[in-house]
Amino acid sequence: MAVSVRRKIKKVTKAVFPVAGMGTRFLPATKSIPKEILTLVDRPLIQYAIDEARAAGIKEFIFVTARGKSALEDYFDHSPELEATLRRAGKDDLLEVLRETNMDSGAIAYVRQNRALGLGHAVWCARRLIGNEPFAVLLPDDVIAAEKPCLQQMVEAYEQTGGNMVAAMEVPLEKTSSYGVLDVAEDMGSIVQVKGMVEKPKSDPPSNLAVIGRYILTPQVMVNLNKMKAGAGGEIQLTDAIAEEATTLGQVFGFRFRGQRYDCGSKAGFLQATVAFGLTRPDLRDEFSAYINDMVAMQKAAQ
Ligand code: UTP
Repeated sequence: MAVSVRRKIKKVTKAVFPVAGMGTRFLPATKSIPKEILTLVDRPLIQYAIDEARAAGIKEFIFVTARGKSALEDYFDHSPELEATLRRAGKDDLLEVLRETNMDSGAIAYVRQNRALGLGHAVWCARRLIGNEPFAVLLPDDVIAAEKPCLQQMVEAYEQTGGNMVAAMEVPLEKTSSYGVLDVAEDMGSIVQVKGMVEKPKSDPPSNLAVIGRYILTPQVMVNLNKMKAGAGGEIQLTDAIAEEATTLGQVFGFRFRGQRYDCGSKAGFLQATVAFGLTRPDLRDEFSAYINDMVAMQKAAQ
């Protein structure tokens, strides 16, 4: 069984963050603000993804950006005036908060996707920076609340399996048409060996195990993406390039992560995440939960 394969597995130290999409589901906000800067409680979506990557040992952060996304670049830069003002005012707590947003010089790189041709195409834009190494991909609009960050769980599992690994979760069968779906060869619990993958199946999904926005990939996936084959929706799909590895080498694994995923690319998911994260924050919990309880009571009384 492939899971027991023991060979030298290269450490994953690079991560790609595809952030070049247009975020049309959040118009008009995303007319001038990148979706990844939208704020969950008090931090932009991108900060959650970066923190997760850092916790998993990522050292090089590669953003695939597009026109209109410069707010993202500024977010990770130093802000000398703001920092000096806070320092003069003795606001060390806020300086500490800002520190999370700073990246070491050279740790972060930006490549441009000139046309939004799909997630696979966005990842391919980072090929020269990835070279011949395994790499992670994180989609910042999937926010995952977990005791151990999702990518860290995956890195630990990947150290056993090697190959390609995708985060997977069970969804109702009628929802599978919104996801990449795994065709399972063998289910081993938290890890499943995959024999195929279908992007947004219109009918007959191969399983109810859906891929969400965390991946660990081999550089061969970049080679597969070179073919620039359009898939579902006419886009160049990452799922198809990974599926090729499943059918040729059997080197794709699904990983059932432990945690709660929020689809912050959709309005309903974003609102759910806002409530869930607000309720876990010690500084907000009491006031916020009292407010929600009152709201629910008022709704019930009105019915
Ligand atoms: P989505 O499917 O959520 O697309 O992309 P989107 O453009 O961000 O949002 P909507 O559907 O118009 O509201 C999933 C991820 O892939 C990236 C997006 O930035 C997001 O992180 N992506 C998608 C690219 O970087 N380039 C693309 O061509 C497509």
